Amino acid sequence: MKYFVLFIFIIALSSKYLGQLCPIIPHPTTYVTTGGSMVLENLISVNKANLPTFGEDFIKLFFANEIGLNVAFINEGGQVKFKQLSNAYPDSYSIDVKENIVISYSSPASCFYALQSLKQLIQTESNSIEIPFCFISDEPKFVWRGMHLDVSRHFFSVSEVKQYLDWMARYKFNSFHWHLTDDQGWRIEIKAYPKLTEIGSIREKTLVGHASSKPEIYQGPAEKGFYTQEEIKEVVEYANKLFITVVPEIEMPGHARAALAAYPEFSCTGVQMPVAQTWGVFDEIFCSKDETIQFLQSILSEVVPLFPGKYIHIGGDEAPKTNWKKCQNCQAQMKKNGLKSEEELQSYFIQKMDKYLTSKGKTLIGWDEILEGGLSDNAAVMSWRGTEGGIEAAKQHHYVVMSPGSHCYFDHYQSDRKTEPLAIGGYTSLEKVYSFNPIPEGLPSSLDPFILGGQANLWTEYIADWKQVEYMIFPRMIALSEALWTAGERDYTHFLERLEKYELPYLKSKNVNYSKAIYYLKSEVVSESNGIEIDFEAIDSSSIITVDYDKSADVTQRKNGKFRIFKTKRPNMLRFVAKSKTAQGIDTLKLDILQHRTLGQPWIIETPLSSSYPGKGGLTLSDGTLGARPWNGKEWLGFNVKEVKMSIELNEKQKLDGIYLSFLSAESSWIHLPEKVLIEYSNNGESWKTKEFRVTKELNHYVLNKKAKFIRLTVVNKDSIEDGKPGSGHLPWLFMDEIWMD
Ligand code: ACM
Ligand code: ZN
Repeated sequence: MKYFVLFIFIIALSSKYLGQLCPIIPHPTTYVTTGGSMVLENLISVNKANLPTFGEDFIKLFFANEIGLNVAFINEGGQVKFKQLSNAYPDSYSIDVKENIVISYSSPASCFYALQSLKQLIQTESNSIEIPFCFISDEPKFVWRGMHLDVSRHFFSVSEVKQYLDWMARYKFNSFHWHLTDDQGWRIEIKAYPKLTEIGSIREKTLVGHASSKPEIYQGPAEKGFYTQEEIKEVVEYANKLFITVVPEIEMPGHARAALAAYPEFSCTGVQMPVAQTWGVFDEIFCSKDETIQFLQSILSEVVPLFPGKYIHIGGDEAPKTNWKKCQNCQAQMKKNGLKSEEELQSYFIQKMDKYLTSKGKTLIGWDEILEGGLSDNAAVMSWRGTEGGIEAAKQHHYVVMSPGSHCYFDHYQSDRKTEPLAIGGYTSLEKVYSFNPIPEGLPSSLDPFILGGQANLWTEYIADWKQVEYMIFPRMIALSEALWTAGERDYTHFLERLEKYELPYLKSKNVNYSKAIYYLKSEVVSESNGIEIDFEAIDSSSIITVDYDKSADVTQRKNGKFRIFKTKRPNMLRFVAKSKTAQGIDTLKLDILQHRTLGQPWIIETPLSSSYPGKGGLTLSDGTLGARPWNGKEWLGFNVKEVKMSIELNEKQKLDGIYLSFLSAESSWIHLPEKVLIEYSNNGESWKTKEFRVTKELNHYVLNKKAKFIRLTVVNKDSIEDGKPGSGHLPWLFMDEIWMD
């Protein structure tokens, strides 16, 4: 038996890596092909024994709509047979295609997953429907495989939401996080409080462009829409048939402007303000007084019966305490309950919701801010500000869903091309999503069971229509499905091959507006003695057709198609124009490389790199590429510490006019300019002189006018983000890119 398992394993691996591509995504645990295939006629016979609980009608419709086959149910024999497994791994299934198709399942959900796999297995070529002879055994790695959709910032119809659920089902996601309320729109009917939708679901005007752009221009038409409770039930039932649980989110105490536009009496000031028309974090949050707590509990009393799943999400993120500090009611609430800080008051507020939901048989889940001031007894945590909140919650033995911005925010850019549609910022490439592991580094393995899984979030401030929803989730959601489902080693190149061969053609056939970023030409820079080497890369290397550059520059082209670019004393900008020809057409990459005196010589960074934005370490600051705007993770080095220290040694003592330092300001992503920079320089590495500069803009030239061989930099971060800005009170991120001298 042991040898048989080993044999299967070797074949499974060889089919994975020796060219036999598995058409099922997410990749199953085992996929073995034996060569040849079964050809199916228009009518397929299915044995009636051991049918899953969802029954004959479902199976009939599934084969007809999804595969194009009519089904005849029979009592003896049959091309398709079902078997029930007992004592099997939860939600595991197998498919054995030999003389017939045998589907063995451990639960109704697993039978549904088997049918999804069968659908991807079936190839329809030249009018015949074929299924390869194969054996598959499979089970999910994580129990929470989530996709989130923000319908507050932009409203999406019931049929669009159902489309989202269909896509989720294809890739074996099982948790739909429905972000129903926020500052810019309340989208769920609450019968006891009709103004929530009469007033709260209508945003008269919306900011044009990015939240950071000035001047602010607002335009109609009004963004409106909400789901009646009947519609909510319809969606929940639809999801249930796809084995997807719907997790509703009702935001509190922050992100409450739409609700407070309808019922200002539940704010701290009582002042009536419109539904928010711009994006960000607002001081107007729910007041913590008893009346508000009762108001929110009675809203929850209508929400709970609509959603049969275990979890109710109460938000909890980004709630500035500005108004709570000034509010007599909030201060009285603190005094009455012996609370020492507004953070403890938030914890008190969340505990009230936790107790209420627990009494209704539900479990509260909230963003990681609910840890602040003390995590309430039964709460689960969704970790979005990195993984630290999730790690802390797991240490306290609470369940966790990992959804860190670095890997799981699908509102971020997915390529560094200037042609990308406007997004909030950030860079979450397909490769980064694929590399996601919900089990964070540094978590003691005994706590792994507290990590339920992971989830991607699609915030829709900058996503006004459905075609763009498609663009932002595809193909990233497919990469995520594999990160959450597939156990064992995963290989990105292999994933790309399968994606290109099977899923992208599928999306194309369905007219889905997926991102073509994988076909974009990319460049890779490595450090070389005396400069850098640059390589232009395409998904298919034979597709690169030309690379043009200034032939008089200090560059040599190597036989392998790579380019060597040398250091120069005086800064000099070089432009490369590379072109490739793929099935998508001609792609052009324009790459600007700044030659300078430390090109290719990595800075020695003393401060530990962050796991989210490590760039290429010290080479990020000397690779000749300037940080892109909108920013992406590649050319930037990000730190979330108070001080960053680094140094470099020049070949010899050199006259330096000055030093250029470049920082990023992207405050909606919590990235701020540092406070100041200390530049130390020395001829011998022993006696040092120091100059201090305040940082007031992104690109800075600090005049030295000195000779030096050794340079040390200390970049001093601000203590915390100012009130009224996203992430206020937290240590900001500090992002740096190329450093050069003249
Ligand atoms: C969040 O992105 N504010 C949870
Ligand atoms: Zn108050």
